[in-house]
Amino acid sequence: MTLSCSSLIESYSDTIDEKALFTREYVFMSYDPAECEVDLSKYSAGDYNPGSLVKRVLWLWISRCFFETWFPWPSSLKSKILGSLGAEIGEGVVWKPCVKIKYPWFLKVGDHSWIGEHAWIDNLAPVEILNNVVISQGAYLLTGNHDYKSRDFDLRIGPILLEAGVWVGAKAIVCPGVTLKKMSVLAVGSIATGDLEAYGIYSGNPAEKVRERVVRLA
Ligand SMILES: CC(C)(COP(=O)(O)OP(=O)(O)OC[C@H]1O[C@@H](n2cnc3c(N)ncnc32)[C@H](O)[C@@H]1OP(=O)(O)O)[C@@H](O)C(=O)NCCC(=O)NCCS
Repeated sequence: MTLSCSSLIESYSDTIDEKALFTREYVFMSYDPAECEVDLSKYSAGDYNPGSLVKRVLWLWISRCFFETWFPWPSSLKSKILGSLGAEIGEGVVWKPCVKIKYPWFLKVGDHSWIGEHAWIDNLAPVEILNNVVISQGAYLLTGNHDYKSRDFDLRIGPILLEAGVWVGAKAIVCPGVTLKKMSVLAVGSIATGDLEAYGIYSGNPAEKVRERVVRLA
């Protein structure tokens, strides 16, 4: 059904502010609905460049052989492979089996961080993981997004930063553009849609702070 602004004013004049009808939220309703729909045939990734096709295809093959497998290849070998593809990987990083990484050349991992089974680093944009970070089983680092206000569904990407000592719990999700500040914890299955404060423990969807992380002195 097509609604015009004038019919809206008549039907709702008692309940809504007429001036508000001319704001962006209402004016679109007077258009032909087809003009307000996405047209994915117009989608393009704009000037986004994820690296050469040859490099991406090579990585798909390497990933299947050494990363997306249960075979326990040593972590040191995996770090070397990633380094040769442009990642910056620190000392003593632990790579569990079945880790998925979108583009190694957009990845930095600091010393002694652990990446758990089935973690998915979906790094269309840079993902930086500092020292002593734990990413538990099945956690998902998501950097891709789309502009849902655009008919062309334009690509949006947002980098992720996990500061030192952060713990991303099993099956938790970190959304595009989010920073988990030093020593923060994202509880199991929680979804971080905004930054987490340093030493905060966050839980839920969207994740909210539930307590402070107090670390015992040894
Ligand atoms: C499981 C989990 C959700 C429980 O957290 P929670 O819901 O906040 O737990 P509760 O509300 O029951 O907490 C009760 C108490 O236990 C403590 N506690 C809960 N989980 C704790 C943990 N992992 N380490 C230390 N203390 C913990 C809380 O700090 C709280 O202490 P307080 O009463 O002194 O404040 C949380 O520990 C978590 O997400 N852990 C990640 C698990 C994971 O991903 N494992 C994969 C790697 S093996």
